[in-house]
Amino acid sequence: MSDSQKQDWTPQSDAVLRDQRAAYDRMREQCPVAWSDYAHWSLFRHADVSRVLHDHKRFSSQVSRHVSVPNGMDPPQHTDYRAIIEPYFNAERMAAFEPICREIAEDLALSALQQERIELMAAFAQPFALRIQCAFMGWPLTLQDSLLDWARRNNRATLQRDRNALGALAAEFEALIAGLLADRRRANATAEDDVTSALMHEQIHGRMLNDQEIASILRNWTVGEIGTIAASVGILAQFLAAHPEVQRQLRDDPDLLWQANDEILRIHGPLVDNRRLTTCPVHLGDRQIPAGQRLTLNWIAANRDPEVFPAPDRFSLERDPAQNLLYGAGIHVCPGAPLARMELVIVMRSLLQHSRELSLIAEQPATLATYPASGYASLPLRLC
Ligand code: HEM
Repeated sequence: MSDSQKQDWTPQSDAVLRDQRAAYDRMREQCPVAWSDYAHWSLFRHADVSRVLHDHKRFSSQVSRHVSVPNGMDPPQHTDYRAIIEPYFNAERMAAFEPICREIAEDLALSALQQERIELMAAFAQPFALRIQCAFMGWPLTLQDSLLDWARRNNRATLQRDRNALGALAAEFEALIAGLLADRRRANATAEDDVTSALMHEQIHGRMLNDQEIASILRNWTVGEIGTIAASVGILAQFLAAHPEVQRQLRDDPDLLWQANDEILRIHGPLVDNRRLTTCPVHLGDRQIPAGQRLTLNWIAANRDPEVFPAPDRFSLERDPAQNLLYGAGIHVCPGAPLARMELVIVMRSLLQHSRELSLIAEQPATLATYPASGYASLPLRLC
């Protein structure tokens, strides 16, 4: 499409950034397949997003010339790399990581939740995501500050579509990983030592994974952990504070957290979008889209589509979980979902156990995060 094509919306405008959910809802109702120079073709309806997810032949994931393992790949290449990654999130690994995850959540709860009021994002959600990321990968805790700083600068460059800055940030991450790999090579680390060492022993097509591939895999896991897990903790806590009846239900029966977390994160998605590229002309909504066009799949709007989720803002454990696109669908469905689900149940259990009641503070309203982040930038909460 030419840049002179009429703009259906301006995704980076203040009006959208101020309240992303409301803006995406409006787009789904008014212009469900929308063109903008910024995001190209944005899809907001559940049916359109689902169609794309289940048709990787017409909708490719190779949206960038940079290596992105496995997000930016199509079969058969994607299938081979995905087979390497999936076992890192199997039941056995999750069971081994569960006590470590519990210890981190409890330790943080004991130190951060002893006050009457906290700003939950800085005091609890972000430190939890960073500590859990370092523990899962086998990285030193001293990396926390650089990882948070890197993630913030990466978000800023993504919002500004600053290709130079994004390139420099990718190189910076590769250098950070190169240091971690060099440490392990010097120490003759074995695959059993930690997840990072294990990846260094993986083979693809009869050769070892190279450092660039390892860095790309770890970058995608890092973005998954730091961005979406921290956002999810904020969204879940805010929802419980704003809905005391749901909070009571979960305090009485914490096992419901497994289902409840997915439903709350359907109502308010922690991840905004992902991209695809058309490989042939396609018809989506009432728009004819040529081959070679970029699509942006808007998870937040699709998961609030009243055609699939009647009264989308209502919390209900009766909905069909198979329709919930929180972790995607099709061949790129989130491989980290078992880890994310376990972490979120554990951290919310600790948050509920170490507080008598979570409530919002009228004179200190929460501030929403802006694209490409979702959830809250700050979330003041009363804990007793
Ligand atoms: C609440 C937390 C999370 C949410 C909501 C989430 C959501 C998603 C979604 C919607 C996709 C599909 C993207 C697409 O179709 O283009 C995805 C893919 C992916 N996620 Fe997650 N994710 C989360 C946490 C994680 C974690 C903790 C990790 C790893 C440590 C992770 C690793 C990945 C990877 C590697 C992919 C790409 C898979 C592929 O292309 O085959 N995610 N995630």
